Amino acid sequence: MKILVVGGGGREHAIIWKLIQNKSITQVHCAPGNGGISDIAKCVPIGATDIDAIVAYAKTEVFDLVIVAPDDPLYMGLVDALEAEGIRAFGPSQKAAEIEGSKVYAKNLMTKYNIPTADCEVFDNYDKALAYVSSCKLPTVVKADGLALGKGVIICTNVDEAIAALNTIMVDKVFGDAGNRVIIEEFITGPEVSVLSFCDGETILPMASAQDHKRAFDNDTGPNTGGMGTFSPTPKYTAQVQKQIEDTIIKPTVSALKSEGRPFKGIIFFGLMLTEDGPKLLEYNARFGDPEAQVVLPRLKNDLLEIFNACIDGTLSDITLEWDDNSAVCVVMASGGYPVAYKKGELISGLNDISQSIVFHAGTKKRDGRYYTNGGRVLGVTALGDSIASARAKAYADVKKIEFTGAQFRADIGIK
Ligand code: AMP
Ligand code: GLY
Repeated sequence: MKILVVGGGGREHAIIWKLIQNKSITQVHCAPGNGGISDIAKCVPIGATDIDAIVAYAKTEVFDLVIVAPDDPLYMGLVDALEAEGIRAFGPSQKAAEIEGSKVYAKNLMTKYNIPTADCEVFDNYDKALAYVSSCKLPTVVKADGLALGKGVIICTNVDEAIAALNTIMVDKVFGDAGNRVIIEEFITGPEVSVLSFCDGETILPMASAQDHKRAFDNDTGPNTGGMGTFSPTPKYTAQVQKQIEDTIIKPTVSALKSEGRPFKGIIFFGLMLTEDGPKLLEYNARFGDPEAQVVLPRLKNDLLEIFNACIDGTLSDITLEWDDNSAVCVVMASGGYPVAYKKGELISGLNDISQSIVFHAGTKKRDGRYYTNGGRVLGVTALGDSIASARAKAYADVKKIEFTGAQFRADIGIK
């Protein structure tokens, strides 16, 4: 089998690493891929959002399956464009991916189908939004409607911060058209849990739980990032909480999307908060999280290709997911200054000395047999162990062996 994976981060490295454990896959191409992916797949220099070029490449190369991993191409309709050409593709349609592409759409869906979430107001008019934040309850949360690289959520503790957030999103248009509308949401509190799930439009299979660390620095300080590290499973996701989330959030979402004529085939990521009033849904993603994939996939015992095929064919009910009892911890190593300004092109050393972990490459480039930094998040170092503590110890022992100028990582992944 010959497969194309669209994307080029740590998540895509983990997906390909897992896929090729199936020996019927003989060729993997990746657009655009990265330094580490180039060791296990043929990387082609096509950007993940270059829809026309990807469709043209897929037609020429004749793949058995194209897997679309990142949010932008999904919401731009890449899966629809591939299917229109008769190419088999894994991922939600553009209409189904709107649960991530528009927070306003997602919120309306949650409200219409009584899925528990934080209360909110939506504004497309700056003056009305301004009037609202001047008198709303604090803290409050201001969110850009559209895709904003995971950075469109601003928690505001006072009115000045809320006004600044509105200016950033609606006036300065830091996130472009994603900021045409804003959501101003009630601030809720509690532990956060991410649940990823496979869905074939009808059946949904939740995966093992995971927990991300979104802030740049230790003890959850500093700016929000794409994710600085993850662990799986999270002890807060007890069997009882799981049942409650499945009954009030996960299953209602699948039937809501079906009722709306947007059956979801692919991966739904539920970003949840366990509040005193029960679990509430903060957001949907229409894809694997990054770096959630880097801890969940190493624990998955099933064949990943088989699951992807079942999602496409509507046969997920035939599959039972099986998980490794070991826990997993992934520590992200980033370029100094991430997520603001950082340098690229630093030589990475020590990768050959890794003994207990899997190193998933994110922003790296390979030249003349050596790896160089090429992005904000550079590597994800994942280890398995019989407890979170032992997985943590192994991952950090290997992180210490890897060096590049300016390397930055959190020292507290998995401690909480
Ligand atoms: P999101 O991109 O929607 O997951 O938001 C990023 C982060 O902002 C979440 O992981 C939460 O930590 C925080 N957040 C989002 N919405 C709320 C809310 N309504 N109340 C409190 N924190 C929130
Ligand atoms: N780690 C969060 C995300 O992938 O959006």
